[in-house]
Amino acid sequence: MGIEIRAMEEQDIPETIRVMKEAWVHSYESIEERYYPREAHDFDMSLNTVERYTGSMEYEYGFFFIAEVDGKIAGSIRGEIIGKSGFGMIRNIAVHPNYLRKGTGRALMEHAVDYLKAEGCHKVSLNTMPVLLPAINLYLKMGFVPEAYLAKQWWGVDFIYMSLWFDKIG
Ligand SMILES: CC(C)(COP(=O)(O)OP(=O)(O)OC[C@H]1O[C@@H](n2cnc3c(N)ncnc32)[C@H](O)[C@@H]1OP(=O)(O)O)[C@@H](O)C(=O)NCCC(=O)NCCS
Repeated sequence: MGIEIRAMEEQDIPETIRVMKEAWVHSYESIEERYYPREAHDFDMSLNTVERYTGSMEYEYGFFFIAEVDGKIAGSIRGEIIGKSGFGMIRNIAVHPNYLRKGTGRALMEHAVDYLKAEGCHKVSLNTMPVLLPAINLYLKMGFVPEAYLAKQWWGVDFIYMSLWFDKIG
């Protein structure tokens, strides 16, 4: 199985949207349903539009990578570097249910981390939910640590803020 990570291009957008929608529906139905409000999930899903993906792809501080497994889009990761601050945020990562547990999530994360390091970042953070154990395990394996517990954050739901520092500063 060959996994290739590359920047998303305009022609990838419709397929990437399909893959991400199916990935998040699967995650919602198999893990999140009793934790994350349906209204929140529906809102998140409504953001999967060509216009928004195009905007993310063109955003000057953003990055948007897709994973291709044997030539087919299997997942994606996107985020941003906050200006010239050297601080990166991962905003979204998901892998399609047909490709779970085959190393794609890790390959996406490693690619994003390598990209952020090459861009001179000293730190990357993300928000996750306590129920998303596959994701939390992946982040811990990558060296992320829980930096803060965000009680009753978005939609009144608890989140965990996790971070990885690339080197010591100050
Ligand atoms: C999190 C996610 C991206 C991982 O993708 P993946 O391609 O299945 O992950 P990998 O195969 O690269 O696994 C890497 C590590 O993640 C952890 N992991 C992945 N799936 C797991 C599971 N079902 N249970 C426990 N740990 C899991 C393991 O530590 C794994 O390493 P290992 O295989 O050596 O044990 C995927 O589960 C997903 O899309 N989840 C739904 C969306 C989501 O939660 N996104 C993150 C929001 S913050």
